[in-house]
Formats: sequence, C-alpha cells, structure tokens
Amino acid sequence: MENFINLNGKVFLVTGATSGIGLETCLQISKYGGIVIGVGRNTEKLNALSNQLPSFVGINYDLINIDGLDKLISKIDHQLDGIVHCAGIVQLLPIKFFNIEVLNKIRKVNYDSILVIISKLLKIKKINKDASIIFISSIASEMGMKGNSIYSSTKAALNSTTKVLASELASQRIRVNSIAPGQVETKLTVEIESKVSLEAILIDKKKYPLGYGIPEDVANLSVFLLSSKSRWITGAVLNIDGGRSSTF
Ligand SMILES: NC(=O)c1ccc[n+]([C@@H]2O[C@H](COP(=O)([O-])OP(=O)(O)OC[C@H]3O[C@@H](n4cnc5c(N)ncnc54)[C@H](OP(=O)(O)O)[C@@H]3O)[C@@H](O)[C@H]2O)c1
Repeated sequence: MENFINLNGKVFLVTGATSGIGLETCLQISKYGGIVIGVGRNTEKLNALSNQLPSFVGINYDLINIDGLDKLISKIDHQLDGIVHCAGIVQLLPIKFFNIEVLNKIRKVNYDSILVIISKLLKIKKINKDASIIFISSIASEMGMKGNSIYSSTKAALNSTTKVLASELASQRIRVNSIAPGQVETKLTVEIESKVSLEAILIDKKKYPLGYGIPEDVANLSVFLLSSKSRWITGAVLNIDGGRSSTF
C-alpha cells in the first residue's frame, strides 16, 4: 500500500536540525523518502545525522551571523522543495530588565535569518514551484507569558510574515504556513523550566488537556504540510498544543 505522505526524492532545508523538533523533522522527512539539508552549530550532531540517515547533508552555520548568510546559501547545491525553520532560542526577561542585545540575538536567530535565507534563495531561483515553507512559531505569539516579550514578538512576526509570503508566493504555487506549538519537551523547554518554580510547571501542565507534547507531534504536522496532501493550505498559523489555547 502507498504511504499517505510521500516525499520521495524531494529536498528540504531544515534549520535547527540538531535538536528537538528540528531533529525529529529531519527523521520524519527521511522516513518518507525526502533528502534533508540540515543546519545547526553542533558538528558532532550533524555528523551523527549524516551517518544515521541515508540522505542528509549537514551545514554548520550560526544563524546569528546574518551578514554571512551568502556562505550558507553557497553550500546549498540542490533545488529545494521546502524549508522548515525550526531554529529558535528563548530567554525570559521581565520588561524591567529589557536588553537590546538580547532582543537582537533572539530576533536574528528566530526571525531575521529565515527572511534573508528565503529572499536569497528566491533570487537565485533555488526554491521550486509547489514548494512548501514552514515556520515553527509558538502559541506564545498569542499568549502572554511573563518575561517572554522578546521571544513572543519574534514568533508573532513569523505569523504575520506567513500570511504576507503566502500571498506573495502563491503565483509560484509556493505555500507558506506556520506551526504554533504549545509546550513540547526539548532542550529549549529546559531553559524555560530552569527559570520557573516546580509549582508553576505543575500548574502549567494542568492547563494542557492532552498533556505536554513530544517533538514527533510537531514533526508529523510538518511532513504533512511539506507533502502534496496539503496542497490547498497556505497562509495558515496552525496551533498544535494538546488543547492548551482553546480550552479552559
Ligand atoms: N519546545 C517547545 O516547547 C516549543 C514550543 C513552541 C515553539 N517552539 C519552537 O520550536 C523550535 C524548535 O525548538 P526546540 O524545542 O526543538 O528547541 P531545541 O531542542 O533547543 O533546538 C533548537 C535548535 O535550534 C538550533 N539553533 C539555536 N541557535 C542557533 C543558531 N544561532 N544558529 C543555528 N542554529 C541554532 C539548535 O542547533 P545547535 O545547537 O546545533 O546550534 C537546535 O537544533 C524553536 O523555534 C522554538 O521556538 C518550541
């Protein structure tokens, strides 16, 4: 029987390939026959993925380096059928301690980098017709967690850019969507959980009717959005959060 999802021979750029949601996205793409070009800073993990997956090319690049992105682009020698921007960082900072350097760092990784990458790839016609672009946003883009103004604003920027690019790129049948997860247990959540009390974590967990998620929950939606089965979905911001944002 044929798989519902078929990514055979298609090539996808995944940022944040070395951990959590991005890593699981690489595994799922590979499972459905796709080829992955994965970006991250951890060479050991990139090499491990190259050894583990039949078609994985790792590129070691620090996305904070916006001015050097031509170097990253020059290493992409395939036409792309899709992009999943998973790279993301967070730092909780109450507004009293607002710091412009922190804003710039988080914004560059979470938002600026992917816009520059997409712009450059389009200019050199490296993104195929019918491609699918996914931004990993967050329910924090629409829900106010104390101390999270910088991270939340970068994710809200991804949401609005999703709609603008969906409109701009529809003539090439390039689809653009965001996935907005709730709490998924990864390295990133360790950073958040280290800043709040155990009691606060337990209270938060209770707000998830289906509990916290795992990276595979998000990656499953990513591969669907990358596949032709989602051909009529564009400009959408899809919450995936075990009911957290839609129930009380
Ligand atoms: N986990 C959650 O609960 C949750 C909820 C909502 C949204 N999200 C979003 O989901 C995405 C993935 O998060 P995650 O939980 O999977 O986090 P994670 O396990 O910490 O992974 C983050 C990834 O981003 C990469 N990265 C970070 N800084 C980078 C930089 N300067 N240059 C290049 N790559 C960089 C890391 O690679 P290296 O370490 O190799 O550089 C890593 O592969 C993020 O955008 C996050 O905001 C997560």
